[in-house]
Amino acid sequence: MRRARFIVIDGIDGSGKSSQVKLLRKKLGSRAVFTHDPGGTPTGEAVRAVLLGSKTLSPLAVFFLFLASRAALVEEIIAPALKKGRMAISDRFDSSTYAYQVCAGKRPEYAKLIRAFSGEVLRKAVPDAYIILDSDPKKARERLLTDRAKDLNAYDKKPLSYHRAVRAGFKKFKPKGSKIYFVNADRSIDTVHKDVWALVSRILK
Ligand code: ADP
Ligand code: TYD
Repeated sequence: MRRARFIVIDGIDGSGKSSQVKLLRKKLGSRAVFTHDPGGTPTGEAVRAVLLGSKTLSPLAVFFLFLASRAALVEEIIAPALKKGRMAISDRFDSSTYAYQVCAGKRPEYAKLIRAFSGEVLRKAVPDAYIILDSDPKKARERLLTDRAKDLNAYDKKPLSYHRAVRAGFKKFKPKGSKIYFVNADRSIDTVHKDVWALVSRILK
């Protein structure tokens, strides 16, 4: 039997991840399990509430909470799905920890910890590919501000310079054993989807 595929969709806040994941869900239906990081499990959602709700957490505590949420997500959702031969698509994953905590948060010493955690601990769920939606932070911010359904979280509210550092962080992310693709996300939702779908189809072949 062919090995099931695991694909991560990532990018800065407002780059259009949720919109693209929704379109992929329409195309792939029950062939894939769709999830998001942080969250995706009861434990992960509780951790996510702490992460997005607290103003007093230290950078190290934040870092390990993201990893804790991801451990639950892999063990409870992603690894079991892949084992059953289902595909998994995650809205964010360790690429976000690298771009946000290591690069924008200026903690280069955490990069080694991510590599150890992702390579050793999460080896049952190494993504086949990361698709990064590359967007100008100014445009992404405008989209978030005009989307009334969205409550801005503490990360969304950070200055543009922070989001520029996150964007640069994604560009520096070099996952071991996975492919990484960048898609220009500053085009219409349908045009971006065409490129994302072309990549997903290629990865699934
Ligand atoms: P993210 O999950 O990356 O934060 P969303 O998919 O929720 O981003 O998109 C944020 C807002 O921008 C939504 O209102 C969405 O409809 C809109 N949007 C998403 N992609 C595009 C696009 N390519 N062009 C214009 N608006 C977009
Ligand atoms: P979320 O509401 O999921 O944001 P979005 O809808 O834009 O994906 O909030 C998660 C926030 O957490 C988001 O701003 C990015 C940040 N984040 C990190 O800082 N590190 C991580 O490892 C992950 C997965 C997310």
